[in-house]
Amino acid sequence: MAKFLALFTKITVLIALLHQSIASESLQRCRRDTTCVLTPEVTEGPYYWNTTLMRQNISEDRDGIPLRIQILVNDINTCTPIADAAVTMWHCDAGGIYSHYIQASQNVQNPQKDNSTFLRGILLTDANGLVTFDTIYPGWYIGRSIHIHVKVHLGGTYLNETSYYSGAKYVHTGQLFFNDSFSDLVNEQTPYTNHTGSRTLNSQDGIYASTKGYTLMAVQYANSSSGFSGGLTTTVTLAVQGLSSANTTTVASTTDGSQESTTSNSLTSSCGGHTGGRPFWFW
Ligand SMILES: *[C@@H]1O[C@H](CO)[C@@H](O)[C@H](O)[C@H]1NC(C)=O
Ligand SMILES: *[C@@H]1O[C@H](CO)[C@@H](O)[C@H](O)[C@H]1NC(C)=O
Ligand SMILES: *[C@@H]1O[C@H](CO)[C@@H](O)[C@H](O)[C@H]1NC(C)=O
Ligand SMILES: *[C@@H]1O[C@H](CO)[C@@H](O)[C@H](O)[C@H]1NC(C)=O
Ligand SMILES: *[C@@H]1O[C@H](CO)[C@@H](O)[C@H](O)[C@H]1NC(C)=O
Ligand SMILES: *[C@@H]1O[C@H](CO)[C@@H](O)[C@H](O)[C@H]1NC(C)=O
Ligand SMILES: *[C@@H]1O[C@H](CO)[C@@H](O)[C@H](O)[C@H]1NC(C)=O
Ligand SMILES: *[C@@H]1O[C@H](CO)[C@@H](O)[C@H](O)[C@H]1NC(C)=O
Repeated sequence: MAKFLALFTKITVLIALLHQSIASESLQRCRRDTTCVLTPEVTEGPYYWNTTLMRQNISEDRDGIPLRIQILVNDINTCTPIADAAVTMWHCDAGGIYSHYIQASQNVQNPQKDNSTFLRGILLTDANGLVTFDTIYPGWYIGRSIHIHVKVHLGGTYLNETSYYSGAKYVHTGQLFFNDSFSDLVNEQTPYTNHTGSRTLNSQDGIYASTKGYTLMAVQYANSSSGFSGGLTTTVTLAVQGLSSANTTTVASTTDGSQESTTSNSLTSSCGGHTGGRPFWFW
């Protein structure tokens, strides 16, 4: 009996060690492979608007340095690109103003909403899971570092501009960030120089902290020999729960309420995204 107990203990310890080593290996693998780490959910903020503007170029009349952003939407569980994902983007102009909320973003008392639509748009990913938006480098406003808002909906059907995109499930609300050293250079260019006051850095922004840097984008000159005048390019991956495993809320369309909940995708830890997939010891 004692012998059996000793053997049992040894085996238990061995299994525990094995689990520990595999778990840590899986953690490391997860960290290396950031595109298969669930992109952290962060607040939608007060400036979302459920428009139906399906378009690549969201710049309209806004002055600023042209920026092309390519976004890859990946399924966290299969680690493969998702086609026909609806990616919604919105951000402020060089002076920190959001369309539809021009008064609110200038701190006007009792602000009225307006019908301007600059720097907002929606695109469906292609077969490779990619969308490309043409916009301008965002400005900033008091209390936040420079960022771009995004939402991802899956499983909807696009009919036309009237009936739009229905039957979708919401899987992601997030924010994209820029390297502050690069933003320093941008803010030396017109019209960004027009903005007075003190800019909040990523290191001072609690929302940036909660993204753990997963959506920090590396920006490049589109044409290295022409600097800012040639425009900028960047890419980012949004890794979301696929339709099969998503803890999602069914919504009528991407035009659902202007204060859509951000809590339905509650997994926010970097490697917790795999909980819907295989158990860790299979890794
Ligand atoms: C986007 O639209 C703006 C304004 O209509 C235009 O000036 C700009 O060249 C367009 N960007 C691209 C990449 O086509
Ligand atoms: C915005 O458009 C809506 C719908 O057409 C209209 O009811 C509203 O008065 C408009 N708001 C402004 C400020 O023009
Ligand atoms: C859009 O699709 C709906 C549903 O099929 C249809 O009723 C409507 O007439 C279409 N609108 C346009 C502008 O094609
Ligand atoms: C931002 O860019 C600078 C200059 O290229 C680089 O030294 C720094 O490490 C970058 N910061 C982050 C957080 O990536
Ligand atoms: C520059 O700032 C002033 C004062 O805030 C504003 O009236 C003007 O429209 C701004 N110009 C540009 C190009 O943003
Ligand atoms: C890149 O910029 C240089 C310098 O302005 C210009 O001569 C060249 O034609 C540009 N290349 C492209 C591909 O636009
Ligand atoms: C946007 O949401 C509001 C509030 O829920 C709703 O009344 C409106 O119809 C939606 N707009 C569109 C274009 O669907
Ligand atoms: C799904 O999300 C909701 C809202 O955050 C949460 O209450 C619920 O526990 C989640 N369900 C699962 C299975 O994770």
